[in-house]
Amino acid sequence: MKIFVTRNIPDRGINILKEKGYEVEINPEDRVLKKEELIAALEKGKYDAVLCLLTDKIDADVFETAGKQCKIFANYAVGFDNIDIKAAAERGIMVTNTPGVLTDSVAEHTFALMLAIAHRIPESDRFTRAEKYRGWAPMLLLGTDVSKKTLGIVGLGRIGSRVAHHAVKGFEMKVIYHDVKRNDEFEKESGAVYKERIEDLLQAADFVSIHVPLLPATRHLINAERLRIMKPTAYLINTSRGPIVDERALVDALKSGIIKGAALDVFENEPSLAPGLAELENVIITPHTASATEETRQAMGELAAQNIIETLEGRIPPNLIKWVENKV
Ligand code: GLV
Ligand code: GLV
Repeated sequence: MKIFVTRNIPDRGINILKEKGYEVEINPEDRVLKKEELIAALEKGKYDAVLCLLTDKIDADVFETAGKQCKIFANYAVGFDNIDIKAAAERGIMVTNTPGVLTDSVAEHTFALMLAIAHRIPESDRFTRAEKYRGWAPMLLLGTDVSKKTLGIVGLGRIGSRVAHHAVKGFEMKVIYHDVKRNDEFEKESGAVYKERIEDLLQAADFVSIHVPLLPATRHLINAERLRIMKPTAYLINTSRGPIVDERALVDALKSGIIKGAALDVFENEPSLAPGLAELENVIITPHTASATEETRQAMGELAAQNIIETLEGRIPPNLIKWVENKV
């Protein structure tokens, strides 16, 4: 069996595939392959499986080129908006993701961003490094408390629930949430309150944290109009997918004081940033690294490898993504 890996990943997943006796070919360059390069590689290799990344756009052309012997595209990510699931289903190609193993890392990163923006950590760090610190001062770099504030979770999946858990258990925050589904059990455990209308959440939250997948229905879910509903003292945190927020509208909202601050790990046109975003002091930006811990990136590789092995051995892989018409 031959496996193509579109870009090098931590070694454990690769070793699992090699130990199975599979021939593993890895893109020799540490960069994203252009579509034509990916297609050329697949055409030449006749692979049985592909381990791909969220930076690879996998569409019908790619599946066609991969050929009939190719059984699975295992995405090294929980999100799979980079893959045309319908095109895969039409060709009987399995697509899998890596849920669960990155939940802690992303929830931690979300909280790190929330605390850092509220306590103005990067701004204070820049200030201190620039030798502007002249001694303790009562009014110096005042931030905002996180404890006991209201956190609005948009999207109560694994990651959203984990963030809610930290908020309630660690910071005695009041949690409100918006999702397509209501979760009674979660409400009982956490004391969280469901908001059927996202507007009601935005109006009440001191911190809004986004955890929905990118779908046609969630693109620009946070737009200019909805930013205006938020409190002028509120912060927006996004560790899901960039296009869920209208980034230009966000820059305007941050400049004009419509909201107080934002902390973003994802951007609308990665790796580009909306004009003006990086110049703002009331913003923290990290380069899509919410799952970037040693442990998590290894575990993602192991899970992707497991999905490939199960598929090539004729079983249903544990993280198969099914094509559901009404979901997109
Ligand atoms: C990262 O963004 C992921 O979807 O795993
Ligand atoms: C990710 O797994 C999520 O459901 O939030």
